[in-house]
Amino acid sequence: MKTTPLHPDFGVEVHGLDLKSVTAEDGYPELRRLFDRHSLLLFRDQPLNDAEHLRLGNLFGPIENRTENPGDRLSAVSNKAAEGGVTAADDLHTLNLIANQLWHTDSTFLPVPALANLLQARVVSSTGGETEFVSTRAGFKRLPRETQERLRRTSFHHDYKTSRGDIAEELTTLDIIQKWPEQHWRALWPNPETGEEALYIASHVYAVEGMDRAEARAWVKDLIAAMTPPEAIYTHAWRPGDMIIWDERATLHRGRPWPYKEERTLASICVTARDVDGLQAVRV
Ligand code: OGA
Ligand code: MN
Repeated sequence: MKTTPLHPDFGVEVHGLDLKSVTAEDGYPELRRLFDRHSLLLFRDQPLNDAEHLRLGNLFGPIENRTENPGDRLSAVSNKAAEGGVTAADDLHTLNLIANQLWHTDSTFLPVPALANLLQARVVSSTGGETEFVSTRAGFKRLPRETQERLRRTSFHHDYKTSRGDIAEELTTLDIIQKWPEQHWRALWPNPETGEEALYIASHVYAVEGMDRAEARAWVKDLIAAMTPPEAIYTHAWRPGDMIIWDERATLHRGRPWPYKEERTLASICVTARDVDGLQAVRV
């Protein structure tokens, strides 16, 4: 297994590993070490079918399912319409995808948050549609000492309706958005192996414990801006068959616009965090 860096702060491309052949004993331990250390792993030219994708995800932990349907563990991040063609740019389905263009980490609004996302490109647009990532471990290190100290005592309230409402109020009325009760997490998620702290923040944050609402939203905006200056960003231009596995505990990401008349389809699997992933440390 060989790696090449993607960004000075984080991220590596992994070469010489066939994702289909990785098992819990062979390949996964090394992959997991790279994941904990680099926060983002890129694999090129490894198209996986749904079953192979799920099998790989399952090595990292239990696979998240946001619905009651047991078949829904793999979700299509896609504007493809059931009746053919694509959903209109102003359709609620498209707007929900566009809400991914706000800096976030996935699943902070779930009762148990995610450890990782394994995202694979299936159909890419002719232009745009990149996904951008930053390291919130590196970003945290860059903050002034006083802000770091303050964040060690801070907790955030998360609600899916926050990010969706920021894009379109009507999104907050959808059952898939509304059904999640608010969640409360500490502002830092230290890596349980190394103790390295990372800012755990998202577009879903609507309040800071003990702080005025308007002040809190302004502070959250400033913190996200401090994590995401242009030089801190790794921009991934997708090719079909690309797989990116990222650490939800130590990164922020966002999608970029694409021509909404074109199909863009990514296949996503989130893995639920467990105690071994340091889950207790982020609980309030
Ligand atoms: C996601 C996501 C970004 C994108 O699937 O969680 O944020 O580029 N996707 O579509
Ligand atoms: Mn996301």
